[in-house]
Amino acid sequence: MEGGTHFRRRKNRANGYTPCMTFPLRPFQIGPLRIELPVVPAPLAGYSDLSYRLLCRRLGAGYCTTEMMLDKCLLVGGKLRKRLIQTHQEDHPTAGQLIGNDPLVMAAAAGVIREVGFNAVDINFACPVHKALSRKRGGYLLKQPELALEIIRAIRASVDLPVTVKLRHKFRNSDDDEAFWRIAEGAFDAGAAAICVHARSVESKYAGAAQWEFIASVKRRFPGRTIIGSGDVMSPADALAMLENTGVDAVAVARGGLGNPWFFRQVADLAAGRTPYQPGLSEQRELMAWHFSHAEGLYGNRTAKIMRKFGIKYARMHPNPGKVRSAFIAVRSGEEWNSVLQQFYTE
Ligand SMILES: Cc1cc2nc3c(=O)[nH]c(=O)nc-3n(C[C@H](O)[C@H](O)[C@H](O)COP(=O)(O)O)c2cc1C
Repeated sequence: MEGGTHFRRRKNRANGYTPCMTFPLRPFQIGPLRIELPVVPAPLAGYSDLSYRLLCRRLGAGYCTTEMMLDKCLLVGGKLRKRLIQTHQEDHPTAGQLIGNDPLVMAAAAGVIREVGFNAVDINFACPVHKALSRKRGGYLLKQPELALEIIRAIRASVDLPVTVKLRHKFRNSDDDEAFWRIAEGAFDAGAAAICVHARSVESKYAGAAQWEFIASVKRRFPGRTIIGSGDVMSPADALAMLENTGVDAVAVARGGLGNPWFFRQVADLAAGRTPYQPGLSEQRELMAWHFSHAEGLYGNRTAKIMRKFGIKYARMHPNPGKVRSAFIAVRSGEEWNSVLQQFYTE
């Protein structure tokens, strides 16, 4: 099916959604949580912190997930733990995402997620980075389906929150789908509230096209369950195309939403047949100023370093992206951040 006409992909966006067509957006459920907009920010390590989640939510996102949190890290004190578990009354519903490989430690960490006030626990069986795989975490669990299921069961037994699972399609490109189906079926049997499918192999990391047809097959196999699709949702039109072509209940937006927290509002516009909202420069400036000052509360004197990577993404919306990108890369302080805004973001 890859590259076929049924699955509309980036290459033929001209056939994708355009203002004047409408698309019915349906709310979806994560256990008892009802989420109005079926397009949600995906967890992104290094980005999905409290500041970013609040921004997405203020601009229309109805459900967020934290970046992955190492189970052990939540069980000890320290600055990293303190930052990772920060939430806020406006930061709901949000799932806390855990990565680890010991059912008991994962269950204890899920208890912390509950105590802190997050609304669901998401389990990461998808991370492809070397550090995670070498420690048999994240995507490595696709090689150990029985251990993956033990983790799910242990977390389900330890907290009364909805539990969701993020899964890649397979470990290696040459593998069959068996481990995926074993974990997915076992997860739902154990009471998981949803599965998010990133339709690439662990080996592929983020390269190559995501296999939307595989996502569609997951929804066909579990028609009554909540399935969230992930992979190659780069524009609001892609989000609607994934909903329509795969039948999933919701779509998670990752790289396509970075630097554009208006994405969620734009999806709602497009679905209603309106031209997607485009913020002016002064509105972008206001948002970026808020983002920096909120991030200071999380990162203190490391804020400029953290915000540079957001600046690089924000620059993509500017009419002169190359220049603005270089200016953000050079930022070393809050004053310098504000002077980039002053210089480039005045109408
Ligand atoms: C920089 C980066 C960080 C990510 N961090 C996480 C993470 O912490 N947890 C997770 O489940 N997925 C993580 N992902 C995967 C995304 O959530 C998403 O599934 C993937 O990028 C596919 O979507 P895309 O092709 O639309 O970007 C990350 C992806 C990127 C690019």
